[in-house]
Amino acid sequence: MKRIAIFASGAGSNARKIIEHFTHHPKISVELIVCNKPGAGVLNIADEHGIPSLLLDKEQFFRGNAYVDELKADEIDFIVLAGFLWKVPATLIQAYPQKIVNIHPALLPNYGGKGMYGRFVHEAVLANKETESGISIHLVDELYDHGKVVFQASCEVKPDDTPDTLAQRIHELEHKHFAPVIETLLS
Ligand code: GRF
Repeated sequence: MKRIAIFASGAGSNARKIIEHFTHHPKISVELIVCNKPGAGVLNIADEHGIPSLLLDKEQFFRGNAYVDELKADEIDFIVLAGFLWKVPATLIQAYPQKIVNIHPALLPNYGGKGMYGRFVHEAVLANKETESGISIHLVDELYDHGKVVFQASCEVKPDDTPDTLAQRIHELEHKHFAPVIETLLS
């Protein structure tokens, strides 16, 4: 069984889709939800599905063992970043080489990097009058939104789009593709 930990900081709509996709899966299971925000919606989703959750301590994450010991003790094989806003420390990347994947709500390499997350991405896409946007799923390395892209899907940007309407269209793409891409990476 491949055991997944999902890292998230927000509402957790992607985490919910991934959990639902792998519920009753013969070879892959979501075993842990890791969060850096007390009260984040994703923690309720973990409770709903009876999945243990871990609230990160910033000091231990960035200046300690980056929770590598805890993840290894829990026999976590693969890490999924689903709206996780902290940068992943080198310690954790080295402990999980090519085994950490992230989803970004734009077509990398554009609209990525430090500070480019959530609403800020969609505002920048609209400000540049782009006619297309999309999602990128990539392996995580030591630079923001930089690792090898393993999947992309695009959608149109409508003339009357707002950051919210574009975000909704992007979420639909994420919810459709993220779990199947993870399944392919782990098969
Ligand atoms: C997603 O749009 C993802 O691309 C971005 O953060 C958002 C998280 O949304 N990195 P949710 O918490 O999964 O609803």
